[in-house]
Amino acid sequence: MIEGKRILVVDDDPDVLSLLSDFLVLNGCEVSKGLNGKQALKIAENHEIEIAILDIGLPDMDGIALIEEIRKRQPFCGIVMLTGRQDVETVVEAMRRGANDFLPKPVDFERLLLTLFRITFERDTYFARRDASAELDHKRTIAALDAELRKKVEELTMMYRISNSVNAIRISEDIFEKILKITNDALRVERSAFYFVQEDGRLLLYRTVPKTCFEAELRLKEEDVRRLISQKRHVSRGGEILFPLSLKGECLGVVRVPIGKRKDIETALSLLKVVVESCSIQIENRMLYESLFESVLQTLGSLISAINKRDLYTEGHCLRVTERSLAIAQNMAVPEHDRDSLRMAASVHDLGKVGVPDSVLLKPGRLTEEEFNLMKNHSVYGEQILSRFEILSREARIVRSHHERFDGRGYPDGLKAEEIPLLSRIIAVADAFDAMTTDRPYRKAMTEQEAVREIKRCAGTQFDPHVVAAFQQVLEDARDGREKRVFQG
Ligand SMILES: [Fe+2]
Repeated sequence: MIEGKRILVVDDDPDVLSLLSDFLVLNGCEVSKGLNGKQALKIAENHEIEIAILDIGLPDMDGIALIEEIRKRQPFCGIVMLTGRQDVETVVEAMRRGANDFLPKPVDFERLLLTLFRITFERDTYFARRDASAELDHKRTIAALDAELRKKVEELTMMYRISNSVNAIRISEDIFEKILKITNDALRVERSAFYFVQEDGRLLLYRTVPKTCFEAELRLKEEDVRRLISQKRHVSRGGEILFPLSLKGECLGVVRVPIGKRKDIETALSLLKVVVESCSIQIENRMLYESLFESVLQTLGSLISAINKRDLYTEGHCLRVTERSLAIAQNMAVPEHDRDSLRMAASVHDLGKVGVPDSVLLKPGRLTEEEFNLMKNHSVYGEQILSRFEILSREARIVRSHHERFDGRGYPDGLKAEEIPLLSRIIAVADAFDAMTTDRPYRKAMTEQEAVREIKRCAGTQFDPHVVAAFQQVLEDARDGREKRVFQG
């Protein structure tokens, strides 16, 4: 059991030293020897010692002082004191200073062996326990780090989701209702409410999600009003958070979230901050967009009325094409923000006619090839006008392609099938149907059935067959609706 142990023996009596050393070597130990304290410390400093056997009465150093010095250098070393003076005080002091055991001189080798066995066993047990506890500590640290990391990843994922949800808010949606939905989802709460701040500091209920009871008006303590509205900081009160929503530095309203007695209030607050701040940026962008859009529409409006004055047909035509295009898009489950673009593009799809000379635009008879080529330019003109407004770049492209054909024989680019924007393919069907079913100076209108038959005939050549199918469905639904009304009427 003590085989291979590194043992330091220190005694000022060379005979005792040799005797002990020989005995230990015989038992398979690696032995270092010192005749005094100085030699002992030098060895302890440079070699790993597992057990030190120290004479208590050294010439240069008190054996008891030597214990402390050796412990400093070898904290886990087992220490056995050899003492000739068996007074209790010395033994007690030696044990107090960290000796593991003591042996009286002359040394009884059997007892020495037993002592060394015991110390070795104790050391091994100590190290085994220490390793186990270190491993446990390590595991605990890893588990804590892992939990922390998980929490961070969850928070970041949630922030990413929040930002995506906020960016996906459509222009037609109530942004405050959306804020509350996102808040409920992000904070995992059942309900929340949005209050508008009144000039006198009162908070008036605007929306709740879901439609649960909240007080219509919120009366706050003066200090809370100050904190929320002037300082724009949140207020925690009675298991709920009030979080201010600011626009351009002004407190516009307050999100109210009942959070109960949850412990992760800090996380809830930081998520709420992300929701509210990204929504307020969204509101600012929306305001900017709306004012830009408004001015763009005004400009386009004057152009459109200029065309309408020249060509009365265009006005009603654009309205009908827009209505039918939207119905087709709805039937095809086109996303709502695409339908917003479609509404815009369809209502101005013939805007480029402003660049077509009256002699061609208003000509009662059939157009010559040259005149038709001039007329064809209107889709490119339309695109050119719209593309001056950066926010209408998408609509500009849709307008450019509204006379492309599914088989690639359209104009202006000869695009084919999916190369043509879907919204242009939709407008193409609605446009053609309206042109066929409207009286023109040079020809009579077709009936609806004739026009549908013609459009069906051209599915796959002029028109996208999927759009044609959706259009037929729209007409059938409309007919069913009409019949129902007549029947019920
Ligand atoms: Fe057109």
